[in-house]
Amino acid sequence: MKRILVTGGAGFIGHHFINYLLTRTDWHITSLDRLDFSGNLNRLTNIIDESNNRDKAKKRLKIVFHDLRAEINEYIANDLGDFNYIIHMAASSHVDRSIEDPMSFVLDNVVATCNILNYARNFKKLEKFVYFSTDEVFGPAPISINYKERDRYNSTNPYSATKAGGEELAVAFQNTYNMPVIVTHTMNVFGERQHPEKFIPMTIKNVRDNKLVSIHSNAKKTKAGSRHYIHAEDVANACLFLLKQEYASLKNEVDFGGAKCPKFNIVGPIELDNHELAQEIAKAQNKKLNYEFVDFHSARPGHDLRYALDGSLMKKLGWEPKKNIFERIKDVVNWSIKNENWI
Ligand SMILES: NC(=O)c1ccc[n+]([C@@H]2O[C@H](COP(=O)([O-])OP(=O)(O)OC[C@H]3O[C@@H](n4cnc5c(N)ncnc54)[C@H](O)[C@@H]3O)[C@@H](O)[C@H]2O)c1
Repeated sequence: MKRILVTGGAGFIGHHFINYLLTRTDWHITSLDRLDFSGNLNRLTNIIDESNNRDKAKKRLKIVFHDLRAEINEYIANDLGDFNYIIHMAASSHVDRSIEDPMSFVLDNVVATCNILNYARNFKKLEKFVYFSTDEVFGPAPISINYKERDRYNSTNPYSATKAGGEELAVAFQNTYNMPVIVTHTMNVFGERQHPEKFIPMTIKNVRDNKLVSIHSNAKKTKAGSRHYIHAEDVANACLFLLKQEYASLKNEVDFGGAKCPKFNIVGPIELDNHELAQEIAKAQNKKLNYEFVDFHSARPGHDLRYALDGSLMKKLGWEPKKNIFERIKDVVNWSIKNENWI
């Protein structure tokens, strides 16, 4: 049976990926997480409780506590064992917090990445190591520009810079030690059990409570920021799709000026501006949206109005998000209203 390690497994995207693996594979799954303010073991308990075969799911999921700021010592290594696949999702991910405290992001996103790469580099049966990166490494995208996998980087805040730093380490381990590393760049992810600081759960709650919704806009307050939002289940589906591809075939797809480490953009189906998105959230609750545009970007450098990636490489390989985005938004709103402890 294949063995997979998901770092950041108690995080938002990590637990969705684990849920997806539990239902779509028979693999043995290990979650490694240090459970900080954004990690929450109740996410994993929830998905186990909701699974069709609770006892079997429980047996297939092992939970290991470890802070990757420290190297993986002999005790932890014995507990973990080795793996066919590693997907490295553990990171500090809240942009505002990176602006307040950049060094903690260097430790979590660069040093921690080096620790997990170093641990994995002598594995004999490792088939793939996925470094789970972000669209934010490319910086803001001017209208009509959608960045491709090998476009230049332009970090506008410490979060994106440290994700780009971790990404370069992953590339270096592929080049130096011939590790089967691939990199993904994913756009803004949403779904059930997301941290309530994030825009979508916060908007669901504010609309429910008839509160004012603040929407980041341009300086003239005429245009809201936009993203290609993607549901966490679609992201999980894309990751499993990539894990199941032969590494050699992926390498052939992505050569760019001699660069080796394959990279893939995982992109939501359409570009949505945050005003449209908030309106959809209000519509799903049969409520009127009470909102204001806020020129957050002039006052707080480090926040970008538009991010955009080109998803054509994944389409060429045969992958696209499955479900309509408006249905996804409606489902998440309905779920969050029913499970209000998560918002
Ligand atoms: N949320 C998004 O829209 C988005 C988009 C693109 C990429 N990403 C990337 O996806 C990954 C997961 O994001 P998320 O939204 O699920 O974040 P999250 O904050 O919900 O989860 C991150 C998890 O990593 C754990 N963690 C952090 N530092 C750690 C360390 N040093 N050692 C061990 N565990 C540690 C946390 O406890 C948490 O459970 C991150 O790498 C992030 O950069 C997120």
